[in-house]
Formats: sequence, C-alpha cells, structure tokens
Amino acid sequence: MLLIKLGGSVISDKRIYRRFRRGAVEEIAYHLPKKDMIIVHGGGSFGHILADKYEITNGFDKWKVMGFAEIGRDMMLLNLKILDILIKNGIPAVSMPPHSYLIMGKRLNLEIFENLLHYNFVPLTYGDVAFDRDRGINICSGDYLMLELAKKFRPEKVIFLSDVDGVFTKHPRNKDAKLIKVLNGNFDVETSIRVRDVTGGMGEKIKLMRKIAKYSSVYLINGFHPERIDHILKGKDFIGTVVK
Ligand code: IPE
Repeated sequence: MLLIKLGGSVISDKRIYRRFRRGAVEEIAYHLPKKDMIIVHGGGSFGHILADKYEITNGFDKWKVMGFAEIGRDMMLLNLKILDILIKNGIPAVSMPPHSYLIMGKRLNLEIFENLLHYNFVPLTYGDVAFDRDRGINICSGDYLMLELAKKFRPEKVIFLSDVDGVFTKHPRNKDAKLIKVLNGNFDVETSIRVRDVTGGMGEKIKLMRKIAKYSSVYLINGFHPERIDHILKGKDFIGTVVK
C-alpha cells in the first residue's frame, strides 16, 4: 500500500489566501495508482492563514468560533477540488473530513478507513480544524494523520510531496546546499523557516518522517515533478530523500 501526502505548498500558493494550484494537482493525480492507497493533503493557504489569524492551535475561545467554521469550510472547498480531480483521473477517492471523525488526544477510530480500503476505495483525508480533548479546538495537521495512518496500516511506502527536491544539508536557497539522498541516524539538518506554517517547518517534518520510518520506507520528493512518484513505485533511481 501507498500512503501519500500532498503538501500544502504544492497544492496551493501559500502566500495567497485560497489560491489553488489546479495544474499541479492534475499532474499529480495522473501519476497516482488507482488503488491500495491512502491520500492525505495539507492546508496551504486554505488553512494556515486563518489558523494563524484565529490562533486556533492555542485552543478554544468565543471569538474564534467563526474562524473555526471558516477554516472548516475552506478546507472542504480545497478537498472537493482535489476529490474532483482524483475522480476524473479514475481514482475512487472518498473524503474523510477530520473535524467529523476524530477528537485530538483521544484514540483514533479508523474503522471507516478499514472499510474503504476493504472495498478498494481510496480514503482521502486532510489537515483540518478539529476538536481537542484538552484545548477544546486545535489544528489536526496532515502530518499527524500520516503518522497515525502509517502506524495502523503499515504501508510499504510513504511519500511526502513538497515544494523542494528533498531534504538538504542547508536551506535550499543556499547555493552550496546539497540534497541528502539517504537520511539516517541523527543527521543534523538546519531547520528551514517556512511562511505561515502553524504546524512546524522542515525540522518537524524530519522528526515525523523518522517516526514513520519505523513502519515504512519514507520518501520526501518534489510534488512539482510527480513522475518521481513512478520512479519510487517502480523501485528506480529517483531525485529526492529516503528516510531510513
Ligand atoms: C494544516 O495541515 C491544516 C490547517 C491549517 C487547517 P498541514 O499542516 O498538513 O498543511 P500543510 O501541508 O503544512 O500546508
């Protein structure tokens, strides 16, 4: 099975509120398998801008109610755009909005996912606003879902699609930055600073990928070159980082 995350910086322009990258998502959809897969997508500018404004990760307060509702709506809008493209590409995707199936801090019930997979559907879920046992409300990141889904379903391959070619020795803006093809042990990577990212930048991503690497082979590749998905699935040489 393949577990793949479409990062928010690939599917949206993170600087402009609700700017969807249709072309990029269409290209990706074309390269995805039609079954044995779970898809997770991020929020990008459909999620992070308002999540910041309403300080959703700091928990519930009365003034945040409209913000929670608006983000929930914006994420559904984004999700529906992606769902439509997947279905047009022959992928039987079915949406699972996190605000309606999980409470953060409580045991995750993935029974619907089991059913979807059993009947050869492709579960599609995403970073979202959600309830939280301790804080009332919170942001459930797509990365957190990736970890939980990997633990439960043990996919052979887990792919993160990002807007960079992989993990670099320095921020990829630096000319002497080198792509790390295999990341193992405690390689010290400079934490990259990302625009409006309420759920952590590259440093956090690496920690997470290392956790998932206990269960699966984990890859970070550039989502703007989705042919690299084929390269990984076919076991060919690819441009990107594998975490071991
Ligand atoms: C964030 O999800 C969701 C919201 C802010 C509502 P992610 O943290 O997985 O999104 P990206 O991939 O970083 O944009």
